[in-house]
Amino acid sequence: MSGAASQASSRLAWLAPLLISILGASILGSYSQGTTDNVLYSKGKELYDTYIQRPFLGRIQAPLQTHCYDSIKTLDAENPHARCFTVSGHRFDRILPDLEANEIIGHRESYENDTNVHFHEGHVIPGLWDGHGHLLQYGEFLHSVNIFGAKTPSELRERVREYLRTNPESGDKDNWIRGVGWDQNILGHMPTAEDLADPVLEGLYVMIDRVDVHCTLVSKAILDLLPDEFPDIPGGEVVREPGMGVFCDNAMDMVYDLWPQPNEARKTEFVKSAMKDLNRFGIVGVHDAGVNSAGLDLFKKLTKTPDWTVRVYAMAECTAGHNHFCADEVSKVSFQETGDLLAVQSIKLFADGALGSWGSAMIEPYSDRPDASGSLLASASALTDISKSWAKAGYQVSIHAIGDLANRVAIDALEEALKVACPDQPTAECQKTRRFRIEHAQVIHPDDQQRMHSIGIIPSIQPTHATSDMAYAEKRLGRKRTAESAYRMRSVLGLNPVLGSDFPVEPPDPFRGIYAATTRKSPNTGKNADGGEGKGWHDGEALTLEEALLGFTRAPAAAAVGGGLEAGVIKGGGLADWVVLDRSLGEYDAEDLRSMRVEETWVGGRAAYRRGGL
Ligand SMILES: *[C@@H]1O[C@H](CO)[C@@H](O)[C@H](O)[C@H]1NC(C)=O
Ligand SMILES: [Zn+2]
Repeated sequence: MSGAASQASSRLAWLAPLLISILGASILGSYSQGTTDNVLYSKGKELYDTYIQRPFLGRIQAPLQTHCYDSIKTLDAENPHARCFTVSGHRFDRILPDLEANEIIGHRESYENDTNVHFHEGHVIPGLWDGHGHLLQYGEFLHSVNIFGAKTPSELRERVREYLRTNPESGDKDNWIRGVGWDQNILGHMPTAEDLADPVLEGLYVMIDRVDVHCTLVSKAILDLLPDEFPDIPGGEVVREPGMGVFCDNAMDMVYDLWPQPNEARKTEFVKSAMKDLNRFGIVGVHDAGVNSAGLDLFKKLTKTPDWTVRVYAMAECTAGHNHFCADEVSKVSFQETGDLLAVQSIKLFADGALGSWGSAMIEPYSDRPDASGSLLASASALTDISKSWAKAGYQVSIHAIGDLANRVAIDALEEALKVACPDQPTAECQKTRRFRIEHAQVIHPDDQQRMHSIGIIPSIQPTHATSDMAYAEKRLGRKRTAESAYRMRSVLGLNPVLGSDFPVEPPDPFRGIYAATTRKSPNTGKNADGGEGKGWHDGEALTLEEALLGFTRAPAAAAVGGGLEAGVIKGGGLADWVVLDRSLGEYDAEDLRSMRVEETWVGGRAAYRRGGL
């Protein structure tokens, strides 16, 4: 009803702008002053939730807001461009037809007293989603030592010392210095605890994850807490050459078991910092690829605070570790229950480790290490059994798989799980509602790509992983395997791939992902795998700008299950999330995408970020 009033104000404005704008202003004025509560309550629980219960939305506001921009790219095929839309609560109400929008814009001065009509500069695209990231870890990363790009052990140590200067209280037994980002390919050798030895750092507890967070490097103080002898750990590696200090995959658990976990207050800071930072890049939603029940409880609590400015679709993980069944420990949450701020409908399982540390499970040995073919983190039959249990419990199953053996085993497991999920349906039909997915889907044998297509399994891809790995991937995999199987994007386009960054593994900026996907060149350097300016790396797999944008908007929304998530598109009834750019997206050069700046990010009809400050 209140919506109709403001709708009428803009509809009638089209017929008789001046008269109605005066009338409209007074009608709306009376709404915001006196009758708001009655009107809202009469619309029932949904509006109650939207306006009153959700502190995120701030004070009670007049129900319908009209926003006009220089241009709006909606990603709605039926109505791709617009100038103005209206917002009701946290959803879009209507995308105004051109005639109506032009009338409003043409009589802009007559709206000067109408607090419900807003004229802005800039060009709008739908709010961006990251299809695979790690919120708590990203927050932790923002509060830890950044080792990305460190070229020598002394640079590594200098970054730790610098962190210590601003965080002098850290590094003791109860508050380890944490960091992420080393890469033996950039350092020139596999690091050891010795590389953290330095008079300033003497005796400090330092634990730094590899760039892909599949290995961690620890200082001597932490090594001293561990036993002298390590057994072989299935699915893990204790690196012994050139010295001790690095633990990979399942072997990392030994170190993590000793690590003093951050308390809830600190984790709250992590989430807050992460969301604030993500908004800066135009991100309005993320698929969090692995949150344990303590994390999920914290998330549920934080959705009720004004700092929760990113929608989260969380994949649960068991406290006991990867590849368990713990349906009694996690509980499902739908977007409807949380005002579209949090959903838990998915479980994250792991088939293998990372390519950089030769951990991913390959059908044939690595081309640069014929003695090694990586390892599965769970046997094929165990992974299938766990997947079936979760499918039966009603969860979406999401399996981390990098190597071609891991992807094969993951597809087997998902196929069997779909049979359990819908015993009376063909798997491809079942998959349409269950939306099982493979995280990373990095190296997939051509036969298995075929199987993914016939079942419809969703690949969740990080375009910047391709460009970060391209320097060594061909060495690891060989020419043929790389050309046929690795880092597919265009080949799997029919499966509506979900794109993301895997933050903090890569920076979260979706425009860097769009650059990598469209050019197959590094967003860091603008160069291809040979360090040249020419053709991108296996650029037959490149996406168009539009396709890449869909991967960061509509595709993640479509890959979420549990219903109710109309996101990544500007259309009536969809979540009112949008991003404002200086120019319309198509007007930027490809190279501009490497360092894009977002002007504004709006979440649920409310500005969550403005470059000049809120
Ligand atoms: C807006 O309000 C001011 C001050 O009350 C008034 O002078 C002006 O005419 C109003 N403008 C419109 C378009 O109604
Ligand atoms: Zn991840």
